[in-house]
Amino acid sequence: MATTLKQTCSRIFLVCVIAVAIQVMFFSPLPDIPQPSSSLPFPSNSKIQEVIKLGQGFLKQPEAVAVDKTGVLYTATRDGWIKKLFRNGTWEDWWKIDDTDGLLGLTATATGGVIVCDADKVMFADDVIESSDGTLYFSIASTKFGLHDWSLDVVEAIPHGQLLKYRCLKYWLKGDLKGQIEIFIDNLPGGPDNINLPPDGSFWIALIEIFPSKMRFLYTSRASRYLIGAFPKLSQWVIAPHKKAMVVNVGSDGKIVRGFDDPTGKVMGSVTSALEFEGHLYLGTLYNDFIGKLPLPT
Ligand SMILES: *[C@@H]1O[C@H](CO)[C@@H](O)[C@H](O)[C@H]1NC(C)=O
Repeated sequence: MATTLKQTCSRIFLVCVIAVAIQVMFFSPLPDIPQPSSSLPFPSNSKIQEVIKLGQGFLKQPEAVAVDKTGVLYTATRDGWIKKLFRNGTWEDWWKIDDTDGLLGLTATATGGVIVCDADKVMFADDVIESSDGTLYFSIASTKFGLHDWSLDVVEAIPHGQLLKYRCLKYWLKGDLKGQIEIFIDNLPGGPDNINLPPDGSFWIALIEIFPSKMRFLYTSRASRYLIGAFPKLSQWVIAPHKKAMVVNVGSDGKIVRGFDDPTGKVMGSVTSALEFEGHLYLGTLYNDFIGKLPLPT
């Protein structure tokens, strides 16, 4: 009797294991990926911990900041608002877009308008910029997975991001190299998010630590990637944006000039954008409820 029961149980167990294995091996959408390369060294300086907090409590996860010709700052918040900060320090609920949590990058145009990316309307539109001839350029963070499934895109780690990945690319809009794409900077010490252009011709790039180093096994172990591909919900708790905040200033030659961080996200975490304006950096975030203002050392 006991032996038959034991045999039945072990058969059921075996069938379950085979069923899970089949699910994992054959219904997983993940292709093979190259191994991650080591990133550029970046010494921590905790400078972001010195930020002045603007609009604290009033701004739900303000991802990005834009400034218009008159010096008014704009940010889009995760409760669907564009809010503005006058020079006198007063905040205003300026424009309610929608009951969306998909508002990401924004820009102030030469004609005095504000354009904001709504990742729920345009599939994962992440950031927007206006060129000198008035053309708008959007970056799409992922063409395959939407905003709420972005952790899967990270696991997959093949370049579905059209403009941005752990490297930044340069796309020539005009001149002899028109239409060509080259690597602008590679092996960044984090996942690049929004890029802003200060007046000196360099670039401010916010880096998110999407992938804490203790999660590296996900890249090296094929089984764990298959498991996440087969059961996508797992990725939501395996991969969350780590709180570490980091921004780097990259020269037009693609070299890091300087950078600031908050290694633990103690004061400000998951910084998604850095806008330079009148000697200060204005930092947007996925994590906090304020904009960080950091005086730039001269
Ligand atoms: C700040 O400026 C705005 C726009 O000019 C104005 O509406 C607001 O009342 C001002 N706030 C204060 C406290 O002066």
